[in-house]
Amino acid sequence: MHKMTERDLNEAYAGESMAFMKYNIWADKAEAEGKKNVARLFRAISAAEKVHATNHWRVLGNIQDTASNLQHALDGENYEIEEMYPAFKAVAELQQEKGAIRSTHWALETEKVHSKMYQKAIDAVKAGKDTQLGEVYICPVCGYTMEDEVPDLCPICNAKKESFKKF
Ligand code: FE2
Ligand code: FE2
Ligand code: FE2
Repeated sequence: MHKMTERDLNEAYAGESMAFMKYNIWADKAEAEGKKNVARLFRAISAAEKVHATNHWRVLGNIQDTASNLQHALDGENYEIEEMYPAFKAVAELQQEKGAIRSTHWALETEKVHSKMYQKAIDAVKAGKDTQLGEVYICPVCGYTMEDEVPDLCPICNAKKESFKKF
């Protein structure tokens, strides 16, 4: 692919991905305000943006076999753990940005779990199997990710067990 087209598609993919995410977040907000149709509008349009993102991502050659996809996912989580979040958190601390210190800390701690889960999945898929996975619980406040056993309070942010989302 020509370099310029490749750059354009990467930029379009990033933009569509952000639109997908923010429309979903704003849908939750509209829902909380009781504006059901606005929530539905945000969700429907976010689904279209996911289609656009998927198409750009496919043309870029980024939809591969699951073992390769897992490896790329693992590489991304490890980059966040080893370089990105420690650096972002250090800057937030230097600048005494309380909200950013907290949001980067929560993400950093969570990505460590994601990395382990992806590594286990890679090993299984490379052996020709699906991964062994119990029930997965996500903290709605900090995103912390837990498998099977769930404490009464989130170990990272103290949110209550009842609020965790199960997958
Ligand atoms: Fe779009
Ligand atoms: Fe992650
Ligand atoms: Fe939490």
